[in-house]
Amino acid sequence: MPATTSHDLEGQIALVTGATSGIGRAVAIQLAAQGATVLVHGRDADRGAAVIEEIELSGGRARFIAADVGSTEGVQSLVAEAGDVDILINNAGFSWFGPTPDLDAAKFDELFDANVRAPYLLTAAFAPAMAAKGAGSIVSIASMAGTIGMPGGAAYGATKLSLVALTRAWAAEYSPSGVRVNAVAPGPVYTGTTSGRTKGLGDTTLLGRAAQPEEIAEVVGFIASPRASYVTGAVIPVDGGRTAI
Ligand SMILES: NC(=O)c1ccc[n+]([C@@H]2O[C@H](COP(=O)([O-])OP(=O)(O)OC[C@H]3O[C@@H](n4cnc5c(N)ncnc54)[C@H](OP(=O)(O)O)[C@@H]3O)[C@@H](O)[C@H]2O)c1
Repeated sequence: MPATTSHDLEGQIALVTGATSGIGRAVAIQLAAQGATVLVHGRDADRGAAVIEEIELSGGRARFIAADVGSTEGVQSLVAEAGDVDILINNAGFSWFGPTPDLDAAKFDELFDANVRAPYLLTAAFAPAMAAKGAGSIVSIASMAGTIGMPGGAAYGATKLSLVALTRAWAAEYSPSGVRVNAVAPGPVYTGTTSGRTKGLGDTTLLGRAAQPEEIAEVVGFIASPRASYVTGAVIPVDGGRTAI
C-alpha cells in the first residue's frame, strides 16, 4: 500500500511503461492510489493482469497494454493503444553489467533501443498533445549508474545519462507550454532484476541498504502530481545518498 493516498491525480490518465514488475509496478500502483487511470504497459500479460487486479482490488482504475518497446513498431502500437495521456512515466528498460568487450553490438543496440530510443519516441508522440492542452507531466527513470562510474556498467550508465540529457532538453522545449519534464534517478532497488549486486551496492549508500520499489514510486508520484507544480528539468536522486559522496 503506497504511503501517499491524496487523490491529486483524479481525472488524469497515466501511462507507465514497464509496469508489470519492479519499480514500474510500484509506480502504477502509486499513481492509481492517487486517483489516476493507469495504463499498465509491459510484455508479460500474466504479470500485467496481476497488476491490474491489484489496482482494481484497491478501488483504482487500470488497463493493460502489451508492447515490446524495443522496436519502432512496438512503440507505435503502444501509442495507438494508449490514446491521450496526461502523465507519461518512461520506466521500461533493463541493465547489463559485465566487461566492456563482452557486450556485443546487438546487445548494445538493444540497451539503447529500450532505455533511450523508446522514451524518445514516446515523448515525441505524447508531449505535443500535452503542450497543446497546456498541461502534462513526463517522468523518466534514470539511475545513479549514469552519475557514478561503475565497473561493467559503461553502456548501461550511458543509456541512463542519455535520459538525463533528454529530460533537460525536453524541459526546455515543453515546459513553456505547461508540460513539466523531470527524471528520478534511483540507487539500487530490490526488483525482478535484483542480484547480489543490489545488496552490495546498497551497502555502499549512506543509508547502508538498497531501496524497495515503493520508495521510488512515492517520489515519482509526487513529481508527477500538481504538488510538484514548480519542478521541471530536475533530476532527483533517490539513492540513499550514494551520489552525494
Ligand atoms: N532495480 C534497480 O536497482 C534500478 C536502479 C536504477 C534504475 N532502474 C531503472 O528502473 C527501470 C525499471 O527497472 P526494474 O529494476 O524495476 O526492472 P524489472 O523489475 O526487470 O522491470 C522491467 C520492466 O520493464 C519492462 N520492459 C523491459 N524491456 C522492455 C521492452 N523491450 N518492451 C516492453 N517492456 C519492457 C518489463 O516488462 P515485461 O517483464 O512485461 O517484459 C518490466 O515491466 C529501468 O529503466 C531500470 O534501468 C532500476
